[in-house]
Amino acid sequence: MMKDIRLTQMTKASGCAAKIGPNILSEVLGKLPKFYDERMLVGIETSDDAAVYKITEDIALIQTLDFFTPVVDDPYIFGQIAAANALSDVYAMGGEPKIALNIVAFPNCLDPSILGEILAGGADKVREAGAVLAGGHSIQDDVPKYGLSVTGFAHPKKLYKNYGCKPEDILILTKPVGSGIVNTAIKGECASDEALKQVLASMTSLNKKAKEVSEKYHIHACTDVTGFGVIGHGREMAAASDVTLELDVHKITYFENAIDYAKMGFVPAGAYNNRKHNERFVEARNIEEHFMDLLYDPQTSGGLLMSVSKEEAESIMEDFEKKHLDTKASVIGQVCKREPDGKYIRLI
Ligand code: CO
Ligand code: CO
Repeated sequence: MMKDIRLTQMTKASGCAAKIGPNILSEVLGKLPKFYDERMLVGIETSDDAAVYKITEDIALIQTLDFFTPVVDDPYIFGQIAAANALSDVYAMGGEPKIALNIVAFPNCLDPSILGEILAGGADKVREAGAVLAGGHSIQDDVPKYGLSVTGFAHPKKLYKNYGCKPEDILILTKPVGSGIVNTAIKGECASDEALKQVLASMTSLNKKAKEVSEKYHIHACTDVTGFGVIGHGREMAAASDVTLELDVHKITYFENAIDYAKMGFVPAGAYNNRKHNERFVEARNIEEHFMDLLYDPQTSGGLLMSVSKEEAESIMEDFEKKHLDTKASVIGQVCKREPDGKYIRLI
């Protein structure tokens, strides 16, 4: 792929604008006044992917927003990734995106055509999602940032929440793991063309199809795997459901060469933060270090993590295959009863 150097300095600088750690967030958010509305179906309390408000017995409104600094040098691809990532939170709630608004920060010193490409990438993903782009807001800032606020709809009874996992459920993840590690290898100019191609295709791909296929089944719980990594988001799901998620590190699909890059030490700072905050919830005996790095690796525009009954797991996986999901879905483990004082995540 042609290297576009215009955003390169921005992606290099973007480390300082990484996601705020979960500990800081929970401390600050915990001090905010509490809101109550009987129509609020999902609020801030359960750290779910989006807020949900019941409009009628048949219609729930889903509201979310997400934005970040460039993760790749190509502005058009960055726009696609940021939009796919923001839209994903609506899919993770079992909803259909309807209206999107741009959130933009852009420096005066960069060529405006770069901004045009970022927005074009985002707009194309909004169109692919079947939603409409209806405006937005932009400010001038030293480091570019882009994302969307998305409004979607779902049936109030068909929402996918991040809790409700039942013991014996099968855990399915709809995209491979290790995008942060591959991106770090890309910045270090060590990534293979194949790894680069695969990770870009995955980060730009919508979770739309995965959500549509899953609708025919009984999804007990769902979230998308993003900045806190497989373990961080899995831990939130397990804690909210009061179960243990048993993840089989050898069954998980990783991006091409991601294991090699993890072994070589291309591990982003976010993975260490995720590890620091989640380690005490994780039981891992004799698990090789590179798997730990991959499971703590922050994912950009990652897949949907679904908890589905054992009886339905096989047919949903076949369905994913038949409908030609753009990304590779894999069974990554199962849900177990949590023993008293048991950990939330067990790696085998
Ligand atoms: Co999410
Ligand atoms: Co999000």
